[in-house]
Amino acid sequence: MKVLLVFIAILGVQKSVNGFSPIRSEQSKLDTGLRVINGGNTDTTRIINGQLAADRQFPFQLFVLIRSNAPLSLIFNVLGSCGGSIIHTNWALTAAHCIEPPSGPTDIRTYQLLAGSVNRGNARQSITVPSRHAFRHNGYNRDTLENDIGLFKVNLPLGFGFTFSDYIAPIELSNMTEAELVGKLLVVSGFGTTTNDRSGPASNQLYYTSLTAISKQDCLTAWRPTILPSTSFCVEDKTSTNLATKKASCAGDSGGPITYTFENGTKVQVGLVSFGSSLCNQYPDGYTLISLFLGWILEIQAANPISLLPIII
Ligand SMILES: *[C@@H]1O[C@H](CO)[C@@H](O)[C@H](O)[C@H]1NC(C)=O
Ligand SMILES: *[C@@H]1O[C@H](CO)[C@@H](O)[C@H](O)[C@H]1NC(C)=O
Repeated sequence: MKVLLVFIAILGVQKSVNGFSPIRSEQSKLDTGLRVINGGNTDTTRIINGQLAADRQFPFQLFVLIRSNAPLSLIFNVLGSCGGSIIHTNWALTAAHCIEPPSGPTDIRTYQLLAGSVNRGNARQSITVPSRHAFRHNGYNRDTLENDIGLFKVNLPLGFGFTFSDYIAPIELSNMTEAELVGKLLVVSGFGTTTNDRSGPASNQLYYTSLTAISKQDCLTAWRPTILPSTSFCVEDKTSTNLATKKASCAGDSGGPITYTFENGTKVQVGLVSFGSSLCNQYPDGYTLISLFLGWILEIQAANPISLLPIII
C-alpha cells in the first residue's frame, strides 16, 4: 500500500486507489502532534534506524507545521507536519501533498517553517507562511502522486526571508536524471516518526540515513501491482533485508530533502520525500525527482516576485 509520508494527514476523505492509501487525519494523532511540539515527549522516534544529525550538518533542513484555525476561532490547530528545504533566501521546497488549499473562507491556513536547529524546539528562525504564499504544483494528482512538489514563498515584511548563517543555508538543486542517480548513495534527513508502523509521534530531533537509488524497474518489481508516479525515483536500504534494522523514511519526513555529495564535497538536493509503504521500510521509498522541476521552480519564482513593502502577512 502506497502512503504519503506526511506525519498527520491533512487531506479529505479516505480512499484507496490501486492499493494507494494516503494517511488521513485522526483527532488522536493531532493531539499527539501538539504534545510533541510542546516538548512533553522524550522518546527517540526518527527516520527508521537512522542517526542523530549534528548541528549545522543539514542547515537547509526545515520542519514544517501545517496549521489551520477552526472556523470562527483564532486558535490555530496543528493539522500535520512535514519536512522541507531552503533553496533561496525567499524560497523553500516541500511536497505538494503537504500543501492543501483552505477548505473555505473561514479556514485560515498557515505553514510554520522552523529552521536552524536539529532540535525543533530550538529553531533559530520560525517563519509563518500564509496559504497564498504556498504553491502546489498544478499537475499534482493525489491519486497517482504525479508532480508531488510545492514551494513556499518566504516574504517577510521589507522582503526579508531566511537569515543565512552556519545554521541556516540554502541547498543547491541538482539536475541529475534518474539514470544518473541509480546506484548512488544518497542521504535523507527528517523529523519523521521511527516506528515502521508509523504510529509513533514525529521526532523532536533531526535524524538522517543513507539509502541507495534504485532503478524504476526494480522499484516496480517490489511495488507491483501498484503503479508508481513517473515524476518519482526510488531509494532503498541495500545494507539490510531485516525489517528490524532496515532504514527508511517514514511519516513526517514528507517534503524533506534527499541529497547527493560529490567527491569534491559539494552537496546537492536530488529529490524530496513523497511516498512509502504503510509499513515504512517494507518497500522502497518514493522521492520526487528534482531535476524534472527546475523549470517549474523558476516559473513560479518569476511569476511571484518578492514584495519589498512593509506589509503584514
Ligand atoms: C547538469 O548541469 C551541468 C552543469 O550545469 C551540465 O554540465 C550538465 O550537462 C547538466 N546535465 C543535464 C542532464 O542536464
Ligand atoms: C564539484 O563537482 C561537481 C560535479 O562534478 C561540480 O558540478 C561542482 O561544480 C564542483 N564544485 C566545486 C566547488 O568544485
